[in-house]
Amino acid sequence: MDEQKSSDSLWHGRFAGGPAEALMAYTVSLPFDRRLWEVDIRGSQAHVRGLGRAGVLSAPEVEDVLAALDDVRAEFVAGTFEFREGDEDIHTAVERRVTEIAGDAGARLHTARSRNDQIATDLRLWTKQAIAEVAAGVVNLQQVLLSRARESGEAYLPGYTHLQRAQPVMLAHHLLAHAWSLHRDLDRLFDAYRRLDVSPLGAGALAGTSIAIDPASTAEDLGFASVFSNSLDAVSDRDFVAETLFDLSLIGIHLSRIGEEWVLWTSEEFGFARLDDAYATGSSMLPQKKNADIAELARGKSGRLIGNLTGLLATLKALPLAYNRDLQEDKEPLFDSVEQTVLGLAAIAGMIDTAVFDRSRMAEAANADLLAATDLAEHLVRRGIPFRQAHAQVGQLVRRHVAGEANLRDLAVAEIGPDCAEYFEPGGATRMRTSPGGAGPSPVAVQIEMFSARLQESIDRLGQLG
Ligand code: ARG
Repeated sequence: MDEQKSSDSLWHGRFAGGPAEALMAYTVSLPFDRRLWEVDIRGSQAHVRGLGRAGVLSAPEVEDVLAALDDVRAEFVAGTFEFREGDEDIHTAVERRVTEIAGDAGARLHTARSRNDQIATDLRLWTKQAIAEVAAGVVNLQQVLLSRARESGEAYLPGYTHLQRAQPVMLAHHLLAHAWSLHRDLDRLFDAYRRLDVSPLGAGALAGTSIAIDPASTAEDLGFASVFSNSLDAVSDRDFVAETLFDLSLIGIHLSRIGEEWVLWTSEEFGFARLDDAYATGSSMLPQKKNADIAELARGKSGRLIGNLTGLLATLKALPLAYNRDLQEDKEPLFDSVEQTVLGLAAIAGMIDTAVFDRSRMAEAANADLLAATDLAEHLVRRGIPFRQAHAQVGQLVRRHVAGEANLRDLAVAEIGPDCAEYFEPGGATRMRTSPGGAGPSPVAVQIEMFSARLQESIDRLGQLG
């Protein structure tokens, strides 16, 4: 029998010659899957211990391979690991090096395992960590929103529909609206984590193996909550990548919506907030400029996150069972989306944390007479007038005001009565928002406490992720 040389491909026995340069150039995944080295080594060590328990490897062989894998890990940690030209992917590179270190014992590492169950295992382990990291970023942004909401006290601003001023809302209410959408994002991430926490190790290439391994024990060794039930499904399932990409896309969309508002809020036209210099950018030509580039990129990069999701869905759409090389295309979008989301969450959190709100500009915009129109109609409702008629009556006053007859306050006091003057006091209409979950000071105080309890629950759940 031929001895395997370290330069040989993993399938050299079957092939007369080596791979063409064009094939290697097109098919290598090492440039992007090298970041899986840590989970790959961890997975291999669990597999080797499993082979030991199954009696496939002797105790000294297990020790040798585990020690070689520890050495390889140390080389990665120290930055001294050397990739070779023939290293097609991270699995090939690690196995090649283990064989160099442990010789024959290392050559037994791949017993009862295929790169198909190996990559599925690696990617699940990596995604578990990634979800925990993204979730921590979401929690951090929520903490910033909550603390800014708490310290905003009585500040209020116009609430908008159709980007037209509609009714005044507390600033805390507006900030927490985004914190609640992030709460759903977290919930989705925890849910995706739970569903992906299944070990595919032991599925082999597609059908399992004749060797007496115990996939449940390696699953436990790797800290997976459960183990696959169907080997074909185990090696071909990338639902967890698609789900994670969706969850990240929606986080991206939420950051984009925050970004769009901050572009508006920091414009001279709105003037609701000023960015800290550290979180703004200048212009190369226009000396006066201070731009909200983080907010704009949150908007811009959400397109890329959506692209990563749709690209993967298209890749998965028509794949026959089980493994196909197409699946290698799962990694770049996943890595990119995770990286961009983590960066985006931190940048937006820093931007909001350090910005200065211009409460008087907000109040001035919110105190505009017209924002009290709904309260006038509700005032008439309390007098027993049906809402439709009240709406029309106030609408006529608005029409007379718009035509230039008088301001709405004076018209209301004259036509409806002096008791409606209070809605036109500064903050008057904001204080009228008293219903549960509403935008006025009393329901918002309740909401702040409720949100802060939910946030603590999320922090506890985050701490429980393996
Ligand atoms: N680089 C491959 C991937 O990411 C690893 C699995 C290769 N399996 C195979 N049968 N060629 O999917």
